[in-house]
Amino acid sequence: MSNRTVPNDLSAFWMPFTANRQFKKAPRMFVAAKDMYYTTADGRQVLDGTAGLWCVNAGHCRPKIVEAIQNQAAELDYAPAFQMGHPKAFELANRIVDIAPEGLNPVLFTNAGSESVETALKVALAYQRVKGEGARTRLIGRERAYHGVNFGGISVGGIVTNRKMFGTLLTGVDHMPHTHNLAKNAFSKGLPQHGVELADELERIITLHDASTIAAVIVEPVAGSTGVLIPPPGYLQRLREITKKHGILLIFDEVITGYGRLGTPFGADYFGVTPDIMVTAKGLTNGVIPMGAVLVSSEIHDAFMTGPEHVIEFFHGYTYSGNPIASAAGLATLETYKDEGLLTRGAELAPYFEQALHSLKGERHVIDIRNIGLVGAIELEAIPGAPTKRAFAAFVKAFEQGVLIRTTGDIIALSPPLIVEKQHIDTIVETLRGILKTLE
Ligand SMILES: Cc1ncc(COP(=O)(O)O)c(C=O)c1O
Repeated sequence: MSNRTVPNDLSAFWMPFTANRQFKKAPRMFVAAKDMYYTTADGRQVLDGTAGLWCVNAGHCRPKIVEAIQNQAAELDYAPAFQMGHPKAFELANRIVDIAPEGLNPVLFTNAGSESVETALKVALAYQRVKGEGARTRLIGRERAYHGVNFGGISVGGIVTNRKMFGTLLTGVDHMPHTHNLAKNAFSKGLPQHGVELADELERIITLHDASTIAAVIVEPVAGSTGVLIPPPGYLQRLREITKKHGILLIFDEVITGYGRLGTPFGADYFGVTPDIMVTAKGLTNGVIPMGAVLVSSEIHDAFMTGPEHVIEFFHGYTYSGNPIASAAGLATLETYKDEGLLTRGAELAPYFEQALHSLKGERHVIDIRNIGLVGAIELEAIPGAPTKRAFAAFVKAFEQGVLIRTTGDIIALSPPLIVEKQHIDTIVETLRGILKTLE
C-alpha cells in the first residue's frame, strides 16, 4: 500500500472523539488488516493491542465472517425490519440466547452499543408501566460510567466531558459513586479488595427517592471506556440483591465485557450475577458490521405479551434491527468464537497477561496497573496542568513503533483480540516499557 490511497483533503470528515485539527496535521491511517495486525497507509504493520475499539475479538478479516457477509450481500441485502422477517435474524437471536446466562431470552436487535443502551432503558421504563408501576420512572447510573453517546446513555453515564455540553439531559436520573480507589487498590491483580460497601450507596439513593420511583439501575460490570475500573468482590452481587429487594431492574451494559473479553462469554458469567437486561454490541459481529443486541428476561418480555394480538406490543425499533448482512456477520462471528474457543480463551491467557502488565510496575509515571481477563490498564500520573497529554504521547509513540493502544485521560487501556498469543503480549508490554522510559 502507498500514500496514494489517502485523499489529499481530509477536511470533510468531522471525526468522532478525535482531536480533528491535530489528527489532520499528522494523520494516522489504516488501509488493511489481518488477524492481529493492521497495515498503515505507508505500509507498516501495527499490532492491534485494543481489538480495534474493544470489538474485533476474533482478530481481523477472518475468512468465515468475510465470506458470510459477501454471500449475504448477494443473496438478501435487506428486508424490512417491521412486520416482516428473514431467517438469519431469528437464527442469530437463538445463538445469542444459547451462550447467554440462563433466563435472558429474547433478544432485541440494534445497530450499536449506544442504541442498545437506549433500547434497554426504554424497555425498563415500559416494563414498569405495563406491570402497573408507572411511577417507576427514575434511572440510576454511576459516576465515570460510559453508556454510549445518545441522550439516555449520557444521562445515566458519568463522564463529565460527554455530558456537560448537552443541556439538562434526561430528568430523574441519579448516580452511584464509581469504585475506583487508587489509595487503597493500586496495583491490584484481578479484582481489587476494597470498596464493596460502595454498593450500599444504592440503598442511600433508594432511601432518598423511594424505591417506588425507580425503574432500573445500569452499570458496566467492568467500566471500560472510562479507564478499566474493576469492581471489588461482592459488589455486583450486592447490587443484584438490593435491586431485587426493591423491585428495581438491573441492567448490565456488556458492550465491552460481552463476547469473551473477561475469559467468560459475558461479565455476568464471570461475576455469577444475572441481570434482568443485558446490553451488548461490539464483539457480537467482531466489529465488522454495526450491530447490537439487548437481552431481556423472559419475565420482562412476557409482561408485554398481553392485549389483542394485532397490536404492536413495544413501540420501538430501527430500520436496520436484525439487518440481514449484520445477522450473517453475527452468525459467522459466533461460529468463529465457538470453533476457536474464543469466548473462554481469555481465561487461559489472563495469568500471563496479568504478569506481563504488572512487570511495568516501577516504570516512570506509572501510578496503577489493573487487569481482568484480557483487559488491562496502566494509569500514568498526569503532567501537572496538562491532563491527557502524557498518555496521548504514549499512544502516538506506540503507533509509530508498531503497536496500537488506547488512551482515555492518562490511562492506557489494553484489550487485544482474543486470538492474541504470548509473543504479542510481550511485544505490547516491551514496546510500552521502552516508551515509558522516554515520556516527558
Ligand atoms: C459500555 C459501553 N456502552 C456503550 C457503548 C457505546 O457503543 P457504540 O459506540 O457502539 O454506540 C460503549 C462503547 O465503547 C461501551 O463501552
